[in-house]
Amino acid sequence: MKVHKLEELWLIIGVVIIGLAIAITGYQAFAKEMAPPSHIETIDPTKVSETPPFNKPGLKKIGDNEYEAVMTLEAFKFEPQKLEVPKGAKVTFKLTSKDVVHGINIPNTNVNTMVVPGHIQTITQTFKKSDRFIMICNEYCGTGHDTMSMQIVVKE
Ligand code: CUA
Repeated sequence: MKVHKLEELWLIIGVVIIGLAIAITGYQAFAKEMAPPSHIETIDPTKVSETPPFNKPGLKKIGDNEYEAVMTLEAFKFEPQKLEVPKGAKVTFKLTSKDVVHGINIPNTNVNTMVVPGHIQTITQTFKKSDRFIMICNEYCGTGHDTMSMQIVVKE
């Protein structure tokens, strides 16, 4: 069998590209630890209200201007409804859902993730300027979806 020279060349280029893609992804996943989390935290979605820390949603200081915001989501509200943090605060949101899949998004930040019942989701954001933010649900969760939001106030 005779393979055309150019066809052979492009076959080699194709294989090299695939090899490079595997190498780069592997390097990022293992050497740079950018792989998706494998130690996923789970929770019984029917017992959220009794399971610490979700039995007491709210803000907890965990370091120098560092906070943990424990939040629960359910159709169609966030708990708590409002959070106040000082300027520059690094806030790690710890979230779970009591019922269906919700999503969170804080416009003008990188906070954007799904919150799936049975799982604990964490996401961190540093609020550099004093401002008012709104956290909205961005995953359709029912008739009240468009009203599902809460407020974050970053004080001077
Ligand atoms: Cu919760 Cu949409």
